[in-house]
Amino acid sequence: MCGIIGYTGPLDGKKILLEGLSGLEYRGYDSAGIALCTIDSGIEVFKKVGKVSNLRDYCNQHTAAVSHCGIGHTRWATHGGVTDENAHPHRAGRVTLIHNGIIENYHQLTERYHLEEELVSQTDSEVAARVLDRLYQGDPLAALGELSGMLEGSYGFCVMFDDQPGNIYAMRSVSPLVAACTRSGSLVASDLTALIPYTREYFVVPEGKIVKLTPYKVNIYSLDENFSKYTPEMMSVNWNMDAAMKNGYPHFMLKEIHEQPEAMKNTILPRINKGLPDFSDDGIPDDLFADCSQIHVIACGTAMHTGMVAQAIMEPVLRIPVTVTIASEFRYQDPLVDDKTLVIVISQSGETIDTLAALRLAQEYGARTLSIVNVKGSTIARESDYVLYTHAGPEIAVASTKAYSVQLAALYMIACRMAYIRGKYSREEAVRFLTDLLDAVPAMETMLTQADFIKGIVTHIIQSPDAFFIGRGLDYAFSLEGALKLKEISYIHAEAYAAGELKHGTIALISEKVPVIATATQQHVFSKTISNIREVKARGAYVILLAKEGSIIDSSLADVIIRIPDLDDRFTVFPIAVALQLIAYYASIGKNLDVDQPRNLAKSVTVE
Ligand code: M6R
Repeated sequence: MCGIIGYTGPLDGKKILLEGLSGLEYRGYDSAGIALCTIDSGIEVFKKVGKVSNLRDYCNQHTAAVSHCGIGHTRWATHGGVTDENAHPHRAGRVTLIHNGIIENYHQLTERYHLEEELVSQTDSEVAARVLDRLYQGDPLAALGELSGMLEGSYGFCVMFDDQPGNIYAMRSVSPLVAACTRSGSLVASDLTALIPYTREYFVVPEGKIVKLTPYKVNIYSLDENFSKYTPEMMSVNWNMDAAMKNGYPHFMLKEIHEQPEAMKNTILPRINKGLPDFSDDGIPDDLFADCSQIHVIACGTAMHTGMVAQAIMEPVLRIPVTVTIASEFRYQDPLVDDKTLVIVISQSGETIDTLAALRLAQEYGARTLSIVNVKGSTIARESDYVLYTHAGPEIAVASTKAYSVQLAALYMIACRMAYIRGKYSREEAVRFLTDLLDAVPAMETMLTQADFIKGIVTHIIQSPDAFFIGRGLDYAFSLEGALKLKEISYIHAEAYAAGELKHGTIALISEKVPVIATATQQHVFSKTISNIREVKARGAYVILLAKEGSIIDSSLADVIIRIPDLDDRFTVFPIAVALQLIAYYASIGKNLDVDQPRNLAKSVTVE
């Protein structure tokens, strides 16, 4: 969850670290810190609670020293509160260390090395730094190798040793790290956004190896007896720095909402062959879809919500069970999964620890696994049997928007291909389905033109501490995501309910002026949903209704109606997603909150 970066080279290290941390800040923003190696003063640490901008001001006031080598960290607190002491980097003797992950056996290590009196923070990371200092006898590879054998949990480390000026060492287990040797120097970071200003060529730091960065060289060593050198597989980035900038938008979230039509096209169009979905360029064979007797979809948060939609799309056509499970639950179950099960794991980052663990468990049970991932080369993408990359470009805002749409697009294409090869759709039906999916793209564009209208209607929502999202069938699945979006960036308590379920308890919470955001786009349950809306309206709710253009709505039913382009029922999710995202966005703006970096959250959840 934390962001880490290391740089050594000819340029101004402090500037590179601070800029890199700004780009990584979405991974955590409780505190930030850097350690700089200078000729005059050796290694100096600067760290501060709060955002990278705080750290920048602090550094500007406290150091003018020039450094060409350093490490930096932006923290999402796990062990120990949000304090300057608990901020990284941690100094221990000759070791300066930053860490992303959780050292699960830090308590045992503290006892074993009698560290209680020495520790100045409450973090597991400082324990790792102090143990490393004890192990260090002048050979960084030996000490790091020994440390890696002792640690339980997850880590991405960058380390500087006092007597190794200009060198940075890095290693990881589970937590992500990428590195590159560029003309501007050598870099290592938890995420590509910190590397792309300098290079498009990079490698994923392999687990069980140690990376040594010197100003003009990056070497990788295996943890064998001789620390033999290892050559990594090089990868290249297919997006540029512009994609990771706001480009005139006030927030990443708004930019990413607007990028959705383009991201949809990038994900869908290269996979159409003769009017049908075709995954042969992804290396995904048809027998993966033909042979399975059930599907399990596993993911977290927004990604899990796309699974809920997929279930409602797939099951009625494929007539096989489609089960959606939250990854953090699945990983501790004894799941009904076998070698006839297709497990689809969904993750924007490809690094979510629970999703990764669930993937590994599914593989142990013999399932065939397909991941839908946005970040190229991420751990989930590499470990699953097959990967279908979404081409959304980097998603920086913590609240997921364009990742949701493209994950859905990928799932819809899988549903279509499966239905076709299993004989559930004729060629004409499959072509029609795909055409309808493509029609969703201009519908999203139309929805975006309603941004000002939506901005004008959130006033009522932001005055209330609660909001309810209701719908039936697919509309319920969309509502789950609408509620998550609203709560995570506006801090309004929001819950989604299947509209018919309200009267079994929750309707007790509906009183005068409570906002109810109702979605009614599914024809076969339309009149039922309308009746449920009447029930809340009768109890004084303030109803915002999302309904298709042309559907006939009694004017007394809703306080506000947001009209959705008239698509086939199965595809209304796409414009509705835009509308619900805009509601959440403008609610957050209306409350003057930090839209892109909401409290307590981080973009990439790499701890349990
Ligand atoms: O990177 P992932 O797609 O695996 O992330 C899963 C969730 O943490 C994520 O979808 C989260 O719920 C969203 N950022 C919320 O907007």
